[in-house]
Amino acid sequence: MPEATPLEARYQECRRRFREVGQEHVLHFWKELDAARRAELLEDLARIDLAQLPAQARLAVTDQPPNLDLSRLSPVKVIRREQAGPEALARGRLLLAAGKVAAFTVAGGQGTRLGFDGPKGAFCISPVRNKPLFQLFAESVLATSRRYGREIPWYIMTSPANDAATREFFDRHRHFGLDPRSVTFFQQGVMPAFDRQGKILLDQKHRVALSPNGHGGSLLALAQTGMLADLRQRGIDYISYFQVDNPLVYALDPVFIGLHDLRRSEMSSKSLPKADDLERVGNFVMLDGRLMVIEYSDMPETLARAHNPDGSRKYDAGSIAIHILSRDFVERLTADPAAFALPWHRAVKKVPYVDLATGQRIEPAEPNAVKLESFVFDALPLAENPIVVETSRAEEFSPVKNATGVDSVETTRRDLVRRAARWLESVGFRVPRRDDGEPDALLEISPLLALDAHQLAERRLKPDTIARGEKRYFE
Ligand code: UD1
Repeated sequence: MPEATPLEARYQECRRRFREVGQEHVLHFWKELDAARRAELLEDLARIDLAQLPAQARLAVTDQPPNLDLSRLSPVKVIRREQAGPEALARGRLLLAAGKVAAFTVAGGQGTRLGFDGPKGAFCISPVRNKPLFQLFAESVLATSRRYGREIPWYIMTSPANDAATREFFDRHRHFGLDPRSVTFFQQGVMPAFDRQGKILLDQKHRVALSPNGHGGSLLALAQTGMLADLRQRGIDYISYFQVDNPLVYALDPVFIGLHDLRRSEMSSKSLPKADDLERVGNFVMLDGRLMVIEYSDMPETLARAHNPDGSRKYDAGSIAIHILSRDFVERLTADPAAFALPWHRAVKKVPYVDLATGQRIEPAEPNAVKLESFVFDALPLAENPIVVETSRAEEFSPVKNATGVDSVETTRRDLVRRAARWLESVGFRVPRRDDGEPDALLEISPLLALDAHQLAERRLKPDTIARGEKRYFE
């Protein structure tokens, strides 16, 4: 008998292991595949965590809503950022100048709602220069590094689907002025999509239907890709976490960092008063005295609509997905990777798949599949002394999620212009306004000029009058 080729040997081993967990069908088309495709399939299968798979498959078929005992919930007490006091600011500045903080962007999502083909961070958003999201963050990191005289490392989490394109985008743009050694990319984990019987779906005969496992996957990915070790080696204690979709974010906010440190918090979060009862943001709540977030999709409507006797909203603290994580907290959680798991959230979605009987690829008209994702905010109940810092929507939050309507390109650009107008007026500029109060000009302030109104004041620009309809870029 000829000796088994390495590929054949890997196939046999893989088949045995997937058979053990009742998912042998993933190799159904093996005989039809050429060597390159076989290798690709094995690569996909190697990304699946076999130890967790049976439990995940079971979860995929149990259709149970999250079990929430409403009687145990109470609202959170937030700290208002503007009332944080000079001590927090001073402490945050000290930590930045001492090189204790890194920026961290989660950019592994698929950005399907935006309908943009490419990494979401490559999406162009700024109102005058049309800078992509990644450039705005890069310039914020660079400006902060310059300000504190200390190079601030930036970590970017990608997914297998957008990793190469993301790196290529940064290469093409010369890392937007950052030292390439200070920008580190790493990939998050993936999760297979399941059918309603808990069977893994194939996207093609040689490809598993895999998608990113949620930004909760960032914690394990930080550990397993060596990023935690890298952070430790660079002397970083705090990770400033933000999403790729919000160009208004204060990427490295000294007040927030300072509060986190002074309060000995392991994981801190920023919040906003919700725009309306059903705003699509996570809700901070206390459950038996522990802080947690209930995602908008899991929040019972009665709870979302509950009001106090004085008319104020009972659960009003909305999550804007901005956190500080202590490095040693993430180390503690992930010390034994096999024992660490955040809860999985189910989403029923339309996922194209190959029909095993006919070999045809089906584009389902109705949701046919279950995807599982974990969320980083589910680490909050595990953190000691977590704090919630309420900030200002106009200053810090306007995510671009949709092509049109709420949280869209249009609203994000508008909010960038509004903020620039406010900052300029605060230093004496005259900005033309329309009858409805909107700035009647397109204005953009480079992060390299100022990261907030205070910094703009320090620049001592000569106040000027902006003409109606003018487009002006400040750098
Ligand atoms: C998210 C939050 C919500 C918050 C809102 C604020 C979740 C589940 N919900 O909603 O509580 O109020 O933002 O804007 O996060 N990502 C990854 N890997 C993944 C999945 C996502 O890196 O596997 C990244 C995306 O690239 C993006 C961010 O996580 O930067 C948000 O993901 P998305 O799924 O768009 O969350 P939202 O539903 O918009």
